[in-house]
Amino acid sequence: MKRFQWKVVALMLLVSAIPLIVSALVADRLLEDTVAIGFDARLEGGLEAAVETHRRYIQVRRRAVVLETRDLAHDPSFLALLDADPPAPAALQTWLAAWIEQVSDPHMDVAMIELRPADGAQTPPLRLDRRDKFPEDRWRTKAQGAIARTERGARFELTVTYVVPWALFREFEDLGHLGRTFDQLERRQASLTTGYTRTLVAFSGAVLAVTFLAGFLWSRATTSRLGRLARATEQVGRGNLDVQVPVQGRDEIAQLTEAFNRMVAEIRQSRDRLAYLERVSTWQEIARRLAHEIKNPLTPILLAVQQLDRKFEDYQDQPERYRRLVSDSMEIVSEEVESLRKLVREFSDFARLPRVDPEPTDVERFLRELIRTNPQFAPHVAAPDDLDESLDPGSESDREPHEGRARAAAAGDPLTAGVDATMMRRALLNLVENAQQAIDRAGLPAEGAITLRVERGDPGSVRIVVEDRGPGVAPEHLGSLFDPYFTTKSDGTGLGLAIVKKIVLDHGGDIIVESPLDERGGTRFTLTLPRA
Ligand SMILES: Nc1ncnc2c1ncn2[C@@H]1O[C@H](COP(=O)(O)OP(=O)(O)O)[C@@H](O)[C@H]1O
Ligand SMILES: [Mg+2]
Repeated sequence: MKRFQWKVVALMLLVSAIPLIVSALVADRLLEDTVAIGFDARLEGGLEAAVETHRRYIQVRRRAVVLETRDLAHDPSFLALLDADPPAPAALQTWLAAWIEQVSDPHMDVAMIELRPADGAQTPPLRLDRRDKFPEDRWRTKAQGAIARTERGARFELTVTYVVPWALFREFEDLGHLGRTFDQLERRQASLTTGYTRTLVAFSGAVLAVTFLAGFLWSRATTSRLGRLARATEQVGRGNLDVQVPVQGRDEIAQLTEAFNRMVAEIRQSRDRLAYLERVSTWQEIARRLAHEIKNPLTPILLAVQQLDRKFEDYQDQPERYRRLVSDSMEIVSEEVESLRKLVREFSDFARLPRVDPEPTDVERFLRELIRTNPQFAPHVAAPDDLDESLDPGSESDREPHEGRARAAAAGDPLTAGVDATMMRRALLNLVENAQQAIDRAGLPAEGAITLRVERGDPGSVRIVVEDRGPGVAPEHLGSLFDPYFTTKSDGTGLGLAIVKKIVLDHGGDIIVESPLDERGGTRFTLTLPRA
């Protein structure tokens, strides 16, 4: 994944994580509060108390049934009615109805009263039945028995059937159930929280995974398009102006791509225009220079011939003088024709520079050979015999230039580079020739003022250094030295260094110039050649 992609994905994750975190916090608080309300101690205590009160109430009602029945069995007016002679069942019925009225309330009523005479009783059995008023599905019945003993000693078995509404028990059950639910809830509080947490984590994980995937895919599409643009820009930087990036979609990247394509096309057009104009102006420069160089010798030639023509009559009787005039004119014409020939030679040399064909060469040996076979280097460059004496391949200090002596020196094993001997000789001759001219024109001492040497360059390269103790190059000329036709000499062509640079570049190498080397001047040309 690219850096841009990481950023987009990270940003999207961050943005989607914020609401998740906030909702997690809010939900946590909410859950805590809700659960806290449910498990409020007071609420729980109240519930327990209510259950207890209800249970007591039912108990009290149960005992009341016993007590009411016993009261009835001992009630004097009831017992008196039982003793009545003759028996008065109607009055008894009325009395019992009134008693029921007094005893009953919404939570308890009487469904039936039965009275069975036992020993000594005259009163016939009696039954007061109100069961039809209390359907069994809504009322729970409970019979309570007691023995009634009258003053006369009669005994009655009394059975009172009470009814209590089922609702009362159901409420109690409901309350109990509620209490148990509360207990369970309390016990589940912990598991509830973990369950919620688990859900939240799973959900968040899913959201983040989806976000990551979406961010990844979207940013990959974008980065690949931007990457294509970046690669195209690099190619343009390397000089390839034929690149065009296919335009996709209609967004800003598409606009950028279109603008890029347009820009490259425009640059290509103006580069072609520029190159053409440059070619034209180069040819204009050549034409101007050629015209100038040709015109210069033509004038003296014409003048010489004109003079011969004019003086012919005057010198008719002086053949000796005329003869001298002819040889003077001849000399002028030969000289000028020779300079024209030199000019043509240099131009055609430059025009027909042969292709470089390098062969692995011991550069140090090559330099030594070059100096030995070119005696015209003397006295500026020391003779090869002297060179041999100063050579000590193992010694680093030998690489320092000596006063009054030129050397080709190398450290360690032979430094070999791919060299086309003919072309490289020509290049080095040009450099030495320039140096000689610079030294002689400045009237500086010639002896050993030029040094040729070989240096071990960066791994994989060999350096040939041509250094002179001449006047140096003016700073404003330094940048134009290798330009064709740049010269500061009246009879120069300015092609020498252009040829040198072309040859070195054709060797896959490079050449730089440094000047001045110190306050007295000096110039150093350094050729870097790839090692073979
Ligand atoms: N060793 C040197 N010292 C000082 N100036 C130099 C040296 N070599 C070259 N130059 C300058 O560079 C110019 C261009 O050199 P070159 O291309 O050989 O053309 P030309 O020798 O015909 O002038 C020279 O005119 C000179 O001014
Ligand atoms: Mg030259």
